[in-house]
Amino acid sequence: MVNPELAIIPQHVAIIMDGNGRWANKRGLPRTVGHSKGVEAVRETVRAAGDAGVKYLTLFAFSSENWSRPETEVRDLLGLLRRFIRQDLAELHRENIRIRVIGEREKLRSDILPLLLEAEETTKFNTSLTLIIAFNYGARDEIARAVAMLARDVEAGILKASEIDPDKISAKLDTAGIPDPDLIIRTSGEERLSNFLLWQAAYSELVFLPDYWPDFDRKLFLDALKIYASRDRRFGGLSDKTIAVGG
Ligand code: FPP
Repeated sequence: MVNPELAIIPQHVAIIMDGNGRWANKRGLPRTVGHSKGVEAVRETVRAAGDAGVKYLTLFAFSSENWSRPETEVRDLLGLLRRFIRQDLAELHRENIRIRVIGEREKLRSDILPLLLEAEETTKFNTSLTLIIAFNYGARDEIARAVAMLARDVEAGILKASEIDPDKISAKLDTAGIPDPDLIIRTSGEERLSNFLLWQAAYSELVFLPDYWPDFDRKLFLDALKIYASRDRRFGGLSDKTIAVGG
């Protein structure tokens, strides 16, 4: 039976996985242990999202600002992502999960880009959940690249500047073809977007959870879906409830 609290399932959930370092710190463990536990939380979340009927799940795995962390931590994070793709790709493919990667690819190292491309290529015809990995991703950079593409089209005479509208911009973003996130979750108690999906978040519901990412699990995912289902989304208009009361 459908759980009535979960009657409205978001089509697209995006997550800022925050708090790996603090989780480890609290236990007197190295930060890298927090990131490793974070990968287990990723696995559980992907399963929970698919089971709940979510169609798109975006995970903020590595931001364009994360390169400024100490070299050893950057190496750890890249290593975890590489290992995740190497170890889990076959299973994700079996589960009919499609992988997409968003973020700047141009200057990516040769040990990571081919893996990301392979993951996308192998799974491109899959039709259950689409797992979108935001890697070397920053929203302002994504928007700037989209604007530059449009400017080149104008220069080439393919497009008039007066024809540029929000749909044309959306179509040039890394997320082209992916519906905007209905729900954005951030763990660890921080309440900001930190350059994540700024354009696409225009009407997203935001849910901030106090828990650190390594503790995130199926229960917390379903809790966030319940909070989402209780929200009244109006997209700048009036709610159905208001219209019903007003006649
Ligand atoms: C935030 O914790 C988390 C990250 C910067 C990276 C998230 C990466 C993973 C969970 C592992 C790899 C991802 C995939 C998809 C396999 P933080 O280090 O900022 O924590 P803190 O704010 O407590 O220091």
